[in-house]
Amino acid sequence: MDMMVIEGGRTLQGSVRVSGSKNAALPLMAAALLAEGRTTLHNVPDLMDIRTMASLLRSLGAEVVRNDGDLEIEVRDETPIEASYDIMRTMRAGICVLGPLLARRHGARVSYPGGCAIGSRPIDLHIKGMVSLGAKVKTEHGYLECRVGRGGLTGREMYLGGAYGSTVLGTANVLMAAVLARGTTVIECAACEPEVVNLAEFLTAMGAQIEGAGTARLIVTGVKKLKATQWHTIPDRIEAATMLMAGAVAGGKVTVEGVRRDHLVAVLHKMNEMGIKVSHDGNGALTVTGRKRFRPVDVTTMPYPGYPTDVQAQLMTLLCLTDGISVVTEKVYPDRFMHVAELGRMGAEIRKENNTTIVHGVRGLSGAPVMASDLRASAALVLAGLVARGETEVRRIYHLDRGYENLDAKLIKLGAKITRKEQPAGEVLKD
Ligand code: EPZ
Repeated sequence: MDMMVIEGGRTLQGSVRVSGSKNAALPLMAAALLAEGRTTLHNVPDLMDIRTMASLLRSLGAEVVRNDGDLEIEVRDETPIEASYDIMRTMRAGICVLGPLLARRHGARVSYPGGCAIGSRPIDLHIKGMVSLGAKVKTEHGYLECRVGRGGLTGREMYLGGAYGSTVLGTANVLMAAVLARGTTVIECAACEPEVVNLAEFLTAMGAQIEGAGTARLIVTGVKKLKATQWHTIPDRIEAATMLMAGAVAGGKVTVEGVRRDHLVAVLHKMNEMGIKVSHDGNGALTVTGRKRFRPVDVTTMPYPGYPTDVQAQLMTLLCLTDGISVVTEKVYPDRFMHVAELGRMGAEIRKENNTTIVHGVRGLSGAPVMASDLRASAALVLAGLVARGETEVRRIYHLDRGYENLDAKLIKLGAKITRKEQPAGEVLKD
């Protein structure tokens, strides 16, 4: 059980390269189940969630081998249809094997994914989409038991919006089911995230017929079969935003390379509003100039192209260091504020009112032992540790390792002083 110890007050300087996107790679890996033959995915980050998805694919009859940044996936046996609770409880993204299993194997037994620190994480929209395509779905003993008639899935028009707008993995899941369905499927209120576009382009390269990728209306014309091919995972826009914010809060000048600037428009706009200077070389490198203080801003998280919920916690750390008041409203995961109490331990003044927090800027933060709770809250605490007076211990750092490839190594390369230590014995860990 690791914890990360960060010495605050060191200036960051230099350049780092962003890894491939975890949230793009996971559905791309699931999509490999749709084709015969060998799929090669490039630029796949080596982190916990990717290894978990590889285990899930192996349990579903695929061979998965890593060659540096590439993953080779070959489906050997198409009889298994079960995604076990043991795997699904650690990574809810495993739910996106449901679509490929129904499309290709006409059946699935998938454990309900658990909730997590950011909310209950329902999958009603995933189920609604599969039922719309003709699957019979029932819930028994914590598993989704799904069956498809002999003729396979049938394309339909459907509306996939929920109480909080579109669903990213729900769109990915239904898209992967629809590409082999008979006839045409129209998905209204589809997610527009770059990760969904990356998947749609990969499926198209495999032979699928998809229109409207990146818009809220996807039109899919089903085909009989898909062929395995190779594809590149897009850069991780969330990691890029996190590294830019690390440079903003602790940096002299920090360059993040290999970035898709067009995937970061909302984040760069918000950073500009806060007075943070980010320049670009037109070739995928963004350079941020560090500041001691920021201008207060209001921010509301929304589905893409709105401000991303996955960069809400990191921004909140910076908003602690203003001379005014900022309002942060979470419209995607209303409870995604586990980092608020931990930032409070470091001297932040943040008040939570339902899905909104009021952040009063303070003169500075002080290092303290804090507890990570979810992937992005952990990142927010690391950023706080970089700039806090003294030492910060971020415990349960495995949350960070699930979704960031060598984040501490990248920060150390820029000049941070970070070490990993064993969690103190006897620490009562209740997740
Ligand atoms: C993806 O999760 C990302 N994960 C999340 O990133 C990200 O925060 C989220 O999209 C929103 O951008 C991966 O891609 C692996 P949603 P996903 O379905 O697809 C509600 C990270 O830190 N909803 O778009 O599971 C849901 O409760 C992770 O990398 C339903 O009501 O999120 C939420 O309020 C965290 N019913 C909203 O929709 C459903 O069936 C958006 O969720 C599905 C979702």
